[in-house]
Amino acid sequence: MNPFAKHEDSVNVQKTVYINDVGPRDGLQNQAKVLSPEQRLSLINALEQAGLDGIEVGAFVSPKAVPAMAGTDSICQALPQSDCHFSALIPNMKGFELAQEQGLKLASLVMASSNTMNEKNIRMNNPQTLDMIKQVFNAAQGSHTKLQVYLATAWECPFEGHMSEDAVLALAEQLISMGASRLVIADTIGAADPKGVKGLLTRLVEEFGADIFACHFHDTRAMGLSNIYAALEAGVRRFDASIAGLGGCPFAPGASGNVASEDVVMMCEQMGYNTGIDIAKLLDASDLAMLLTQTAPGGKAKTWLRKHYPVAS
Ligand code: COA
Ligand code: ZN
Repeated sequence: MNPFAKHEDSVNVQKTVYINDVGPRDGLQNQAKVLSPEQRLSLINALEQAGLDGIEVGAFVSPKAVPAMAGTDSICQALPQSDCHFSALIPNMKGFELAQEQGLKLASLVMASSNTMNEKNIRMNNPQTLDMIKQVFNAAQGSHTKLQVYLATAWECPFEGHMSEDAVLALAEQLISMGASRLVIADTIGAADPKGVKGLLTRLVEEFGADIFACHFHDTRAMGLSNIYAALEAGVRRFDASIAGLGGCPFAPGASGNVASEDVVMMCEQMGYNTGIDIAKLLDASDLAMLLTQTAPGGKAKTWLRKHYPVAS
C-alpha cells in the first residue's frame, strides 16, 4: 500500500522532481571525522542504488583547504556504471583539469554572490571569479566534462549580510551569457525564507525559464522544506538535498546541514511529484550515513518513513 495520501489534484504540469544528493561532498567536507575514500564510495553506491537523479561525489579542491575531500580522484575511478548524474565541485581551472582527467561528465563551479565569501572560499574576488569561470567555460568547449555553476550565498552572506535580488539577477545573467546551462541557486548558510525564495526564483524563472535552475538549501533555521516548497511554486523542479541532513561549509560560519533528502523526497512524493527514488533504499543510505559519520542528524521524516519501509532483513 502506498503510505502517502497523495494530493494528486495539486500536481502541476511538470510532475517530476529531480534530486541531487550532495551528502558525499557538502555533507562530508566539514565533518570532524574524515571518512576514507572507500567509506565515501560505499555511501555513494547506496545512494546510487536508491535511484537519485544526481550525486555530488566529491571535490577537486586543495587537500590543504578541505582535507576531507582528498581522494576524490580514486572515487571517480570506482563509480558504478549508472544513469545517475555524478558531479564534483571545482573551485578553479586546476579542479576542472582534474575532473576532466578522471572522465567525470559534470563539474560544478562555485561563485558566491558576495565578494567576501568568494575571497574566503576560493581566494578570488567577484571579478576574478567571473574571469576564471569564463576561462574554464572556454576550456570545457568540446570536452566530455560539462559545467554547471553554483551561485552561493544568493540570499545572505555570513560576512556581508543580505544580498540584493538585483545583484543576484545580474550575476545570473552574466553566468548564463557565458554559457552556463545550469545555475544552482544556493542558500549556503540556511538564512533564506520562503518569501525571499519565491521572490528571487520567480524573477529568475521569468527572465531565464525554470529548466536552467536548481536550488540548494541548508536547514540551519528549519526553513529548508518551506524554501523548497516556495521554489516549487516558482517553477523550479531540481533540488539538492543531503542524505540524513549531513552538511556544512568550513568557510561559511553558521552553515549547518543541508535539508535532508529523506524529508524532501517525502514532501515531494506526498504532494504528487515523482522523484524516481526507492524510499526503502534511501533509508538504508541514511542509516549508513549516520553509522559512518556518527553525527548526521537524520531527516525529520525518517522515523515515520521507517514505519512504512522497515529494514529488509
Ligand atoms: N585541486 C587541488 N589542488 C589545488 C587546486 C585544486 N583545484 N587548486 C590549487 N591547488 C593547489 C596548488 O597546486 C597548490 O599546491 P602546492 O601548495 O602543493 O603548490 C596549492 O593548492 C595552492 O595553490 P593556489 O593556486 O595558491 O591556491 P590558494 O591557496 O589560493 O587556494 C583554492 C585556492 C581554491 C585552491 C582553495 O582555496 C580551495 O581548494 N578551496 C576549496 C573551497 C571549497 O571546497 N569550498 C567548499 C564550499 S563551496
Ligand atoms: Zn551547501
